[in-house]
Amino acid sequence: MQSIANWLIIIFTGAFVLGLITLAVMYWQDVHQTTHAIRRNYPVIGRMRYRFERLGEYFRQYFFANDREEQPFNRAMRSWVYRTAKGLGGLISFGSTHDLNQPGAYIFVNASFPKLEEEKTPMPPITIGARCDKPYVAKHAFNISGMSYGAISKPAVRALACGAAKAGIWLNTGEGGLSPYHTEFGTDVIFQIGTAKYGVRDAEGRLDPDRLREVGQQVQAFEVKLSQGAKPGRGGVLPGIKVTEEIARIRGIPAGKTSSSPNRHRDVANTQQLLELMHYIRGLTGRPVGFKAVYGSELFPRELCETIHRLGIDYAPDFITVDGGEGGTGAAPQVLADHVGLSLSESLPMVVNTLTEYDLRDQIRVIASGKLVTSGHVAWALCVGADFAVTARGFMFALGCIQSLQCHKDTCPTGITTHNPRLQKGLVVEDKAERVASYAHWVNHEINELAHSCGLSNAREFQREHLRIVQKPGYSMPLSELYPEIRITSLIQESLKRQA
Ligand SMILES: Cc1cc2nc3c(=O)[nH]c(=O)nc-3n(C[C@H](O)[C@H](O)[C@H](O)COP(=O)(O)O)c2cc1C
Repeated sequence: MQSIANWLIIIFTGAFVLGLITLAVMYWQDVHQTTHAIRRNYPVIGRMRYRFERLGEYFRQYFFANDREEQPFNRAMRSWVYRTAKGLGGLISFGSTHDLNQPGAYIFVNASFPKLEEEKTPMPPITIGARCDKPYVAKHAFNISGMSYGAISKPAVRALACGAAKAGIWLNTGEGGLSPYHTEFGTDVIFQIGTAKYGVRDAEGRLDPDRLREVGQQVQAFEVKLSQGAKPGRGGVLPGIKVTEEIARIRGIPAGKTSSSPNRHRDVANTQQLLELMHYIRGLTGRPVGFKAVYGSELFPRELCETIHRLGIDYAPDFITVDGGEGGTGAAPQVLADHVGLSLSESLPMVVNTLTEYDLRDQIRVIASGKLVTSGHVAWALCVGADFAVTARGFMFALGCIQSLQCHKDTCPTGITTHNPRLQKGLVVEDKAERVASYAHWVNHEINELAHSCGLSNAREFQREHLRIVQKPGYSMPLSELYPEIRITSLIQESLKRQA
């Protein structure tokens, strides 16, 4: 007994002395270093600031931030996705914490006499690229936005592909090429051609027609990526740490080296070249071809429509993806993410209006993306005039993302954006595929519920008059008045014909 007590005294004294020596070393380091003013002025204790700042990133969401406060996605939105992905439904009790007086809040215009159960109809499928040899019939309005294999992990791609197949929705590959995991479950796939043309490039980085034809056999449509909301004017960046042997092979690049795609397609410097490229891909593959962009003003869509009329309707894209400036990414410079590109709430009505004005709305499908993660947001996009809504981060939440903001570091704690096998273990494909399917199913179901509440048979019937936007407390305006649609087509077409 006596000897145990002696040992304990020795251990505690040793630990105490060691602690004192450590503090003394830290003190010496702090007063002699020159980079951190706080540590120099408040040795040792000043270090706590940096530790708390780091920990705050993780703990704020649990202890301090309220339900509707955080960015980019608040807890209320994330929890809604988690619940629906787990099949727990979107039920709440007592009342909503959503502030209906906040400018920008949506208010759907409920009908006094909503549809009876027997009057409701399922949402009809929509054809993309009716003029193509192989049009694509998309069954649902809500689908998965582009995330490349590379930015996200193999189990993440597999869970998304499997879940998408179960739900009957499409999966966009993002700009990283087509992996075997995208097609493993028979999912509908939209292949994205990024500015580096990963997966369909030759040794010099130009489009490889043979490879394009090959890919065309396996996917439903092609999307040429001009830009994305999180980093307009900047190409994709995949840090070297994430360029594994397999990812390098799929993309056609060297392994282990940071891969940066150019900030625009080298062969596309104006609207005519864009339309010609899409026309070429459509001709080669027979598949629908569209493009994705974030918009800075209405100049680009206007010029695009004029060029379509000049070249002929055969050159029109089969779809346009409108990505809002609020979009996410695996890695982007903060200044571009914060300040460049219009938000979807401004660009979507602008693009839809321009297409309507130039009489092209019926030929070109519109896909909207930018924080459309709940059924309310998706229904908003349909009211504005989109045919489809897609989300990347919504589906990341369905996979278990906790918004730890580490996509670019290969340290994602949920295994979604890391190639570290230890962290990927947490992402069990079979389980997460169910969640992806459940989330997609729930959103596609709930937009119809909203439509029924507005007196419509299904969500395809949404118009701008079905939504009001709060301008100031106690005052909202119908979307149809905020963004009126103007059709001056015949005039424009006549003048374009004359110019031709
Ligand atoms: C991890 C990650 C990877 C992405 N990779 C791509 C990509 O390869 N190509 C692309 O066009 N957009 C990419 N995006 C952007 C999304 O497709 C989408 O446009 C954007 O995040 C807006 O949708 P959201 O707000 O629903 O996430 C990526 C986004 C994330 C979060």
